[in-house]
Amino acid sequence: MYPSSRLNDAADRIRERRSVRAADILEPGPSDTELNEMLEIASRVPDHGKLGPWRFLIFDGDSRQKFGELLRNQFAETNPDSNEAILEREYSRFMRAPNVVTVISSVDPTSRIPEWEQILSSGAVCQNLLVGASLMGFAAQWLTEWYTYDEVITKSLGLSENEKVAGFIYIGSAEAKPSERGRPDLRSRIAKWNPA
Ligand SMILES: Cc1cc2nc3c(=O)[nH]c(=O)nc-3n(C[C@H](O)[C@H](O)[C@H](O)COP(=O)(O)O)c2cc1C
Repeated sequence: MYPSSRLNDAADRIRERRSVRAADILEPGPSDTELNEMLEIASRVPDHGKLGPWRFLIFDGDSRQKFGELLRNQFAETNPDSNEAILEREYSRFMRAPNVVTVISSVDPTSRIPEWEQILSSGAVCQNLLVGASLMGFAAQWLTEWYTYDEVITKSLGLSENEKVAGFIYIGSAEAKPSERGRPDLRSRIAKWNPA
């Protein structure tokens, strides 16, 4: 039998998992070895056609500041009325966490596998990354924010025309688990199919 038994600790951790707001994420982030393990976990997703229709772009250390300069400039360009405090907030976005992992959906439009399924696989990568981070003792949040959809920014990330940002996963540590949030009413979303 596989899996042969229930690993309660992991199941409990996933059942109770919560995102930590990027603003509340602290040092330390994962080491390079830990991050690699997290990415291994993240990429262990179902993938129809074995296309691996996703990739990772990692921000840490100084690259976060460098990217912050791009964010500030582009925000100023598209929001000319912004004051210095607003622009400083844009500059600081990636400094909210020690690591920001960009999960990029890379769709192969020539594949027989529907695009929708390829995109779903990259969503699974994002969620696995959140779960992997949590199981390894780290805090994380999946954000998109405006820069996911800004062409100048996505070009600076090196995205090709068949690529999109599935998410920026902010990773680090947290002082405490956030309080619970409202959840969808599961009972109203579960049904057993009955033939008409
Ligand atoms: C694709 C995607 C994009 C998201 N983008 C944002 C965002 O830009 N800003 C934000 O406040 N929350 C965003 N969220 C929501 C948070 O990641 C998260 O769902 C929320 O903080 C509560 O998470 P939890 O249920 O894991 O605790 C996004 C979620 C998803 C799935």
